[in-house]
Amino acid sequence: MTASETVLQVKNLSMTYGSRGSLLGRSESAVHAVREVSVAVRKGRTLGLVGESGSGKSTLGRCATLLLRPTAGEVLFRGESLLSADHRRLAVLRRGFQTVFQDPYSSLNPRKTVARLIREPLDIHRQGDRAWR
Ligand SMILES: Nc1ncnc2c1ncn2[C@@H]1O[C@H](COP(=O)(O)OP(=O)(O)OP(=O)(O)O)[C@@H](O)[C@H]1O
Ligand SMILES: [Mg+2]
Repeated sequence: MTASETVLQVKNLSMTYGSRGSLLGRSESAVHAVREVSVAVRKGRTLGLVGESGSGKSTLGRCATLLLRPTAGEVLFRGESLLSADHRRLAVLRRGFQTVFQDPYSSLNPRKTVARLIREPLDIHRQGDRAWR
């Protein structure tokens, strides 16, 4: 398997919630949601993550797409580190992956039209021209 065939690579990823303590100075108990997980997704393949509720599936997904910054580990998208990419580079890389959330009622704003909802990410990522969008 060459590096170019691997679309996503997660290496020794750990995510601990509440590790920095609360705002009031009391140290809340840390939750080790994900501990040293490594997975790879190859081009054209699907990876399913199975586990009981609270086992860290969503946390791993959020960290893999950098919606959450993991406390340790590495995430490579097409061989490039997401964690060391700056904002500008990350904006470019984000055109290549996305999250499809399970619940459309909390994912899509009912006050926006379908056209606006579909167009918004195309505007943000500057895809196509105005007429095409
Ligand atoms: N924002 C947060 N702050 C603190 N703890 C959290 C936070 N989000 C999740 N957790 C905790 O991290 C652990 C993993 O949660 P996560 O939501 O990743 O599990 P899951 O496998 O997706 O569960 P489910 O199958 O119910 O969706 C749980 O103990 C959860 O309570
Ligand atoms: Mg979940």
